[in-house]
Amino acid sequence: MSRILIAGNWKMHLNVSQASILVHRLQERIKTHRDVEVALFPSMLAMQPLSMQIDRRKFRLGAQDGHFKDEGAYTGEVSISMLRELVHYVLVGHSERRHIFGESDETIGHKVAAAVRNDISPILCVGETKDERSSKLTSQILHNQVTAGLKNVTSREIKHIVIAYEPVWAIGTGDIAKPDQIASAVATIRSNVAHLYGVAPSKRIRVLYGGSVNADVARAYLEIDGVDGVLVGGASLNYHSFSSIVGSAYRLTRER
Ligand code: 13P
Repeated sequence: MSRILIAGNWKMHLNVSQASILVHRLQERIKTHRDVEVALFPSMLAMQPLSMQIDRRKFRLGAQDGHFKDEGAYTGEVSISMLRELVHYVLVGHSERRHIFGESDETIGHKVAAAVRNDISPILCVGETKDERSSKLTSQILHNQVTAGLKNVTSREIKHIVIAYEPVWAIGTGDIAKPDQIASAVATIRSNVAHLYGVAPSKRIRVLYGGSVNADVARAYLEIDGVDGVLVGGASLNYHSFSSIVGSAYRLTRER
């Protein structure tokens, strides 16, 4: 059984001192756990100070994005290679990057490769919009995004990848995805991985769910067959709700 991953994507929230206060509070509530891993995704600005502050036995750091080129004339960008040794994970292809910033599948494929090249595990985010779901295109979209995202990943590298299923219609909306919708999307993702890399990697790869996860629903999501963790947005900004989501994971491991 893989370790459960509870990831908090802070998006463009919390300045450096607010981020430090949140970490301080989380540190009081969250303990080290053999079977539960907790990763925090602060702003780029807070990354360096938090890397000094966090108790590394309790937390891992992740970046919300990064440029795939190692360096160059790209004003305003931070490269994934600059994040080496600072972060353990990087989100790639989050729907906000795809839809607000127009990130293409090709760019996403390059970012996944840059992360792997720099010993950082990419969390490849995939998911359909509301229109795509109502047009019954969910499986096709997931197939396209998984295939393009993993285009540059070899069968030796696939073990470093995490995939997050984040239906766009459930992100930040409070629109709660039903467990059977999630189970079926996760099965589609695993079958795409199986097609590309074989059955064993498709079973081993960690797949997370994200989209309006809060302390009330986290447990039900973590119990879904094939789901290895959650990627939390809004509820990760509150120490009380985020630590109770982590607490749900602790309880689940005790009962397994
Ligand atoms: P919410 O939990 O706020 O819906 O955001 C989910 C998300 O986008 C995590 O990456």
